[in-house]
Parts: sequence; C-alpha cells; structure tokens
Amino acid sequence: MIIGVPREIKNNEYRVGLLPVHCEALTEAGHTVLVEHRAGEGSGVLDQDYRAAGARIVNSPRVLFRRADLIVKVKEPQPSEILLLHSGQIVFTYFHFAADKKLFSSTLRSGIIAIAYETIQSPDGSLPLLTPMSEIAGRMAVHEGAKYLEEPMKGRGLLLAGVPGVAPAKVTILGGGIVGANAAKMAAGLGADVSILDINLNRLRYLDDVMPKNVKTLMSNAHNIREQVRDADLLIGAVLRPGARAPMLVSRKLVKQMKRGAVIVDVAIDQGGCIETSRPTTHEKPTYLVNGVVHYCVTNMPGAVARTSTLALTNATFPYAMEIAQRGFARAVRENSALALGVNIARGRVVYPDLAKQYRLPLTSLKEVL
Ligand SMILES: NC(=O)c1ccc[n+]([C@@H]2O[C@H](COP(=O)([O-])OP(=O)(O)OC[C@H]3O[C@@H](n4cnc5c(N)ncnc54)[C@H](O)[C@@H]3O)[C@@H](O)[C@H]2O)c1
Repeated sequence: MIIGVPREIKNNEYRVGLLPVHCEALTEAGHTVLVEHRAGEGSGVLDQDYRAAGARIVNSPRVLFRRADLIVKVKEPQPSEILLLHSGQIVFTYFHFAADKKLFSSTLRSGIIAIAYETIQSPDGSLPLLTPMSEIAGRMAVHEGAKYLEEPMKGRGLLLAGVPGVAPAKVTILGGGIVGANAAKMAAGLGADVSILDINLNRLRYLDDVMPKNVKTLMSNAHNIREQVRDADLLIGAVLRPGARAPMLVSRKLVKQMKRGAVIVDVAIDQGGCIETSRPTTHEKPTYLVNGVVHYCVTNMPGAVARTSTLALTNATFPYAMEIAQRGFARAVRENSALALGVNIARGRVVYPDLAKQYRLPLTSLKEVL
C-alpha cells in the first residue's frame, strides 16, 4: 500500500500523522511511505529523519494525495485538501463530522473512506484514539484557564491556587471523563477548589475514590449546573456523547450570571461545545469575551504542545494504521470491531448511525460497503 503523511495546514497545527519509527515499520513490511516536505518540522522531526527511516519526501501535497491509498493525518481535511481527495481513498484522521456540516457534505461527495479517530471504540466502550488527546487537552485546560484568569488577559485577576490566608479559585468541570478527570487532577494539584459534574453515577463513584479531597463530585442536573456555573472562576466544558453533537448544558442566560472575568474553556467545542456562547477559536486568536466572561474554545488544543501530542497520538493510532496497511480496508474492519466503529463514511454513503440521524440521511450498514 502507498501511505501518505501530509503536512498539517490547520491554523497552528504542529502535529504530524506518523513518525520515522512508524515509517520504518511500514517500509520494512513492504509498504511505500510518502511524507510531505517539512511535515514533521513542528514536532521536531526533519525530512532527513524520515528519509533515513525509508520514507520518500514529496514536495507537493497534490502529488502525495493523488498517489496515496491511505492518508494518515491529524486534523480533518481542510477545504484545499478536500479538493485533493479521490474516490476509494482511505483517510485516517480526526474528522468530528457532527460539528461541521460543510466538512461532512464535502467528504461524502469526495467518495473517500473516512475512518475517524474519535469514533474508534473498544469493546469496553473506551475511545482509544481520543483518550491521549483528551488527556492532553484536559491538562492544558487548566494551564490555559489559569493564564486567562490573569488580569492582563481580561480575567478576574485570580491565582488558581490562592495563597495562605487567601481562598483558591473555584473550578467547575462539566463531564468527568478523560478530559474532566485530567483537568481535575491538574486543578486539584494546584490547590484549586474543584467540582466535577457527570450524569454517570458509576463514574462519579470512581472519581470520588481516586481524587483528592479538594475535588467534589456532583450529579449533572439543571440545579447543580446552575449553582456551580454561577460560582465558578474557571468553567471547563468536557462532556461527550460519542459521535454526536455535545449536549448544550449552559445557556446564554446562565453565562450572563457568571462573574465578570471568569474564564470558560470549552474543550468539547470540537463536538459543537456545551456552552451556548461558545464558538470555535484558533491558537492565533484563542479567546473572546461575552458579558465580560473570557471564552477559550480552541478546537485543536493539543496542537500547541506538538512534541508531546504527536508522540502520544501516534502511540495510539499507529497499530490501527498498520492493520489497515497490512490487511486492506475490508479485512481490517472485518477483523477489528473497534476499527469498524471508526468508519463514518464510505464511498459516498453514511455508515455511522449518529451521523445519519443528525444529517437526516439514509444509513448504510458497513457490511454493504465492504
Ligand atoms: N478541543 C480540543 O482540542 C479537544 C481535545 C480532546 C478532546 N476534546 C473533546 O473533549 C470532549 C470530552 O472528551 P473525553 O475524552 O473526556 O470524553 P469521555 O467520553 O471520556 O467523557 C465525557 C463525559 O461526559 C459525560 N457526560 C455526558 N453527558 C453529560 C451531561 N449532560 N452532563 C455531564 N456529563 C455528561 C459522560 O458521562 C462522560 O463521563 C469531547 O468532545 C472531545 O472531542 C477536545
């Protein structure tokens, strides 16, 4: 198989789909790997490192996209990349179709097989390719929140940790999954006063067991959300319904009742966000104000810590990329049920139930497109 690794072109995205170590394994297995010129630069990897691992460096994305049977990348194809896709090509990356109708429609028209990192799901229900980035985004949410709470950043002028004699800041986290737990761990480590809300009682039990005393767990319901949001200095949105749009938990009216200079970090923005006033932002211009509340809604947070993120991401994605290369699409998804759940679109048809439902299109079973 010919595997293509393009240079990411999304705003301030410095990660890359595969590292030299993976190119070495693929070429040793008899595959050809094409890597776009400077694709690894943002993650500290040079063209010569890829060359030494057996990959071929390609100068033009046009040539790379035309020749590759399998594209392994990081972020959803950008409009200029969509034009380069060809029917039957496999694209293995984060897509987040539920949050972007335009991307969904243009990908459907392109005829590719879209395997989305974020919907690959293990039999135990976990999302193994979302997890490493969620760990990073959860931890980063607290760094970013702490930074934007500073006065010059338009925040309330609060130190998350407080100091002896001065109370710490209040951090409210909606969703106690991977993002939520990692954010809670960081915020608690800094000494903040943390609340996590979730609808899954078993998850709350687990968090209550493992978290330190400055983290309290609460059932996510309208009353608790209202109380905690009003009281929060830093509000972190971390909910997920796999493959579907994030549930809207905080209304514009409730944001109005928040403290001026409070900070919202809506990590769930890549699935549409869970706060009514959230809209996607970029690392170039990460924040905006609504009623004096700072909103940070960057859709690719881990891109800013690319060296850590590329390693963490490819540790998780590479085994699947290798399976697709070795077995081909049909056999790989037949033999790996987790990978099969990653297939959202195949050859112009929608095969992921939540997407068909959201965009009111017929659902085709995966078997039919194999
Ligand atoms: N912006 C970024 O750069 C970035 C990076 C990584 C992940 N994410 C996003 O962060 C979000 C969370 O990801 P995750 O890996 O933590 O997911 P997860 O599945 O591990 O956790 C989600 C949690 O939300 C809970 N939940 C669902 N509905 C809820 C509700 N109404 N109230 C409270 N809790 C509710 C679930 O019970 C679950 O515990 C996702 O949207 C993911 O795509 C964004």
